[in-house]
Amino acid sequence: MEIEWLPNQRQRQVLLFFVLLSLSGAGAELGPYVVVEEMEKGSLVANLVKDLGLELAEMSTRGAQIISQGNKEYLQLKVQTGDLLINEKLDREELCGPTEPCILNFQVLMEKPLEIFQAELKVKDINDHSPVFPEREILLKILENSPLGNVFPLNNALDLDVGSNNVQNYQISPNSHFRVLTYERSNGKKYPQLVLEKELDREEEPELRLTLTALDGGSPPLSGTTQVLIEVVDINDNAPEFQQPIYKVQIPENSPVGSLVVTVSATDLDGGVYGKIIYMLFQASEDVSKTLELNPMTGEIRLRKQVDFETVPFYEVDIKATDGGGLWGKCTLLLQVVDVNDNHPAVTMNALTSPIPENSPEMVVAVFRVSDPDSGNNGKTISSIQEDMPFLLKPSGKNFYTLKTKRALDREEREEYNVTITITDMGTPRLKTQLNITVQVSDINDNAPAFRETSYTLLVHENNQPALHIGSVSATDKDSGTNAQITYSLLPNQDPNLPLASLVSINADNGQLFALRALDFEALQAFEFHVGATDQGSPALSSQALVRVVVLDDNDNPPFVLYPMQNASAPCTELVPRAAEQGYLVTKVVAVDGDSGQNAWLSYQLLKATEPGLFGVWAHNGEVRTARLLSERDAARHRLVVLVKDNGEPQLSASVTLHVLLVDGFSQPYLPLPEVAPERAQGDSLTVYLVIALASVSSLFLFSVLVFLAVRLCRRSRAASLGVCSVPEGHVPGHLVDVASTGTLSQSYQQEVCLKGGSATREFKFLKPIIPILPPQCPEKEIEENSFFHNTFGFNY
Ligand SMILES: *[C@@H]1O[C@H](CO)[C@@H](O)[C@H](O)[C@H]1NC(C)=O
Ligand SMILES: *[C@@H]1O[C@H](CO)[C@@H](O)[C@H](O)[C@H]1NC(C)=O
Ligand SMILES: *[C@@H]1O[C@H](CO)[C@@H](O)[C@H](O)[C@H]1NC(C)=O
Repeated sequence: MEIEWLPNQRQRQVLLFFVLLSLSGAGAELGPYVVVEEMEKGSLVANLVKDLGLELAEMSTRGAQIISQGNKEYLQLKVQTGDLLINEKLDREELCGPTEPCILNFQVLMEKPLEIFQAELKVKDINDHSPVFPEREILLKILENSPLGNVFPLNNALDLDVGSNNVQNYQISPNSHFRVLTYERSNGKKYPQLVLEKELDREEEPELRLTLTALDGGSPPLSGTTQVLIEVVDINDNAPEFQQPIYKVQIPENSPVGSLVVTVSATDLDGGVYGKIIYMLFQASEDVSKTLELNPMTGEIRLRKQVDFETVPFYEVDIKATDGGGLWGKCTLLLQVVDVNDNHPAVTMNALTSPIPENSPEMVVAVFRVSDPDSGNNGKTISSIQEDMPFLLKPSGKNFYTLKTKRALDREEREEYNVTITITDMGTPRLKTQLNITVQVSDINDNAPAFRETSYTLLVHENNQPALHIGSVSATDKDSGTNAQITYSLLPNQDPNLPLASLVSINADNGQLFALRALDFEALQAFEFHVGATDQGSPALSSQALVRVVVLDDNDNPPFVLYPMQNASAPCTELVPRAAEQGYLVTKVVAVDGDSGQNAWLSYQLLKATEPGLFGVWAHNGEVRTARLLSERDAARHRLVVLVKDNGEPQLSASVTLHVLLVDGFSQPYLPLPEVAPERAQGDSLTVYLVIALASVSSLFLFSVLVFLAVRLCRRSRAASLGVCSVPEGHVPGHLVDVASTGTLSQSYQQEVCLKGGSATREFKFLKPIIPILPPQCPEKEIEENSFFHNTFGFNY
């Protein structure tokens, strides 16, 4: 920049003064006188006396004086001495500025006579000003890639002094890039120029601060400084560079969309647009582009969608950073998806056997496969089943398990198992999957039918309807299906005499028992047989039970009077002496009943009598006794009708007619029975009636026996006016009566008495009667003490 020099007012006046002088045609006659600027007031410039060629005195007589231009009196004349003195300090820069030489014109005026002398004063410069830079700082922009030797002109410094006191030289503070060159123009002005000596690098040193010093030529030289700020201007000489060439990042799968994966960052040393970076995915696959989102400005990479470890566990992505100048850098993102336990274990059933047969030792029930797509512990699984199961889980091969039975199963114990297979992974949180399988146990015929009772006792009344349902047997079988289907049957009879097949039948399906015909208690009081229950298994299993049928008595037999015989052609006549005391035992009605129990409990009563009040009948034992003393007035012949009733329902009865003949004489206390001659007896047909009343007294005593023995030997006679007592030959029902004090019947037995004299098998001897009795009077009667009889006993408790 040029510095403009402005002349001040005073200089202009001086100039005008000189113009006036030259117009007057005056020339410089004195001088020039030379003074240095800034001399003190009173300093001697010259002595004019000699220069004017005058006498000293003339100076004052002629009135010499100094005329200066302008209103400033630079000079002063001492007329006494003729010395020309400095009147005030002269400042060359003020008087002449840059003009050199600096000449001041003045006149010496003589009044008497008038005479004017032109004179010149030359003011010489001293170095009283320093160089000054117009700016305190000079800004210089230089491209960083400027070639060496490039010259950068700078503004020069100004110095009011002139000549060698003006700026002569420039210097630059020490630096490695520039030196300064002082360049002189044709007008002699010196200008500084910077010369690039070493290449600039903005990225290394974006600016330099140098001090430029201007030196003038004074002695000593004065100087002035300014700051030079050199801004190194960027060029795109740097490509963006990532902070890391490889970014290794892990991200949990299922991270939400928008999650920050990583922020990549590149730097570009260049400034401005050359340093402005735009990020972008580079050569990204479609999958990567769909998964990751890159903010072009910030380099933030976020999830565009959820990542799934099981689908893509790993991404490798290149990222490019491009600056405004088109230069680019690249980095690689290695994104590892971290598994999260987000998958439940899966189970696949490969084989399942159900039902499985019972009683089989260890066998494989199921084979299944377990999988978990997660990795690490998240994918490790544990399989288990309930503890209370007779099953066992065994790993068999990778991820395969078999479910086996621990032991043989029993269908009858449990026929179905719900096995819950639980598969748990080891991840956090633990995830589990359950699978329920139902294992059924199939039946094997391992259980025989079982009767509810081992023996059955069936009570029935006799005289039943044929085909009457008399009871049921029942068996169960723990097996199932046909293995539990039961068929009932009658088992072959063990007693060959029992015509079982004609007595009972069984319903094969339900075990109901039927009586095939009417049962007769008197013929068959009880019988036993076995029933079988057989299942339909293969092989079939069976079991048996005992059935005992007890026939209950019905009152179907009327009392039967054994004595006296009723339909004998010659009825017996009882003889009673007239002298008999009251209560004389006339006779005893003996009756039996084919039934048993109460049905056979007999009672006796007098139904009719020729002479009422004379005879009485003992209700319990059928004894006929006299009720009072007899007298002569009583008729000889008496006829008594005795009714015998049983205690059954309905009540049945029989009547018997007794013939009593009163005879003169006394009663005999004892009537010995005549000895029976065996030889006599052999040829005789004997009829023996035996009734035994048996009383049970205690357990210590077996029994006491009351035997009433009535032996009547009645032989058919050729002249039987009174008749013959007889009993039909063959089997006659017998009856044993217990006359306990209570009158109840506690025990009884049935007996059949076969009375046949001369039988070869005589086993019992008759006992004497213990009750005195008169022998009945029969025609040609014979009373025998009997010898033998033939009988059959059957006890029934
Ligand atoms: C087994 O599961 C089935 C179906 O849930 C159910 O009907 C059955 O009663 C279960 N059996 C057992 C023995 O728990
Ligand atoms: C399996 O059985 C268990 C126990 O009976 C029951 O709690 C569970 O809900 C069942 N699971 C399935 C998947 O049926
Ligand atoms: C007696 O009567 C019974 C039936 O009451 C008969 O069976 C029997 O033959 C008769 N006896 C005589 C001797 O008439």
